[in-house]
Amino acid sequence: DGDSSTVLEHAHTIATEAAEAAGEPLRELHGQVETVDVKSNKSDIVTEADHQANRIITTVIDNEFPDHGIVSEEQPRRNGKNGYTWVVDPLDGTGNFAHGNPNYSISIALLENGTPAMGVVYVPETDELFSAIAGIGAWRDGDPIETTDRDRLDESMLISGYDPDGTFLSHFYQESRGVRRLGSAALNLCYLASGSADATWEHDTYPWDIAGGLVIARAAGATITDERGEPFVFDLATDKRTALLGSNGPLHPALLEHLGTGLPDRSG
Ligand code: IPD
Ligand code: CA
Ligand code: CA
Ligand code: CA
Repeated sequence: DGDSSTVLEHAHTIATEAAEAAGEPLRELHGQVETVDVKSNKSDIVTEADHQANRIITTVIDNEFPDHGIVSEEQPRRNGKNGYTWVVDPLDGTGNFAHGNPNYSISIALLENGTPAMGVVYVPETDELFSAIAGIGAWRDGDPIETTDRDRLDESMLISGYDPDGTFLSHFYQESRGVRRLGSAALNLCYLASGSADATWEHDTYPWDIAGGLVIARAAGATITDERGEPFVFDLATDKRTALLGSNGPLHPALLEHLGTGLPDRSG
């Protein structure tokens, strides 16, 4: 397998290939979804396209790295042998996809001993590819990206992810330039990474929603914490959902201050 940076660079190439290959059927099926399977609730859905993208991605990974573990939203977990685990969300933003909205993505990450170290997020409808290797850089279509340095909330564009009680939205809607609710957690982190958003909030995330975007946002200079400002700890336990506050850094204190007063106490 060679040393770590060689593995990560090779993985970056393979993940790019896998994501672009999976993007093709998604583009073809987009706008034509007739049936969805409802999983745990009316908003938690999966389509044949999710499964198709999953098959393409996991086949590419498996051919190249048969010893690595794979955790994907749409298939049983496979443990690896050598400290490398892939974390795949074959279609992030299935709700948008199923309703013909173009804001959806494919997220592929590689963990090294549990830490997200390489990430690729591909947007089929715009053919944009966000990617990063930890410690090396973050890119959009190969060009380096970085977070903004905006430090005023009233000049900032924020993105709210899943936020069931609307806390983030209600607090910041008045205080910022705008709060958007777009629908792909992976892509929200890429918008933060590339400067079209200054911060993003997810009340609950699964590991596959954020693994790829986390590497990209961090490598682009983002600050990522939990809702209390503690460093965000990535956890592969697939039943565990965690809150994530990502920002450009300068805005983080102001965001935490308001989140701190607005959020229900979750310490109990
Ligand atoms: C969902 C999206 C959405 C987020 C949800 C996720 P899926 O993923 O990332 O933006 O708010 O929490 O479950 O199910 O479309 O892959
Ligand atoms: Ca899902
Ligand atoms: Ca997802
Ligand atoms: Ca998904």
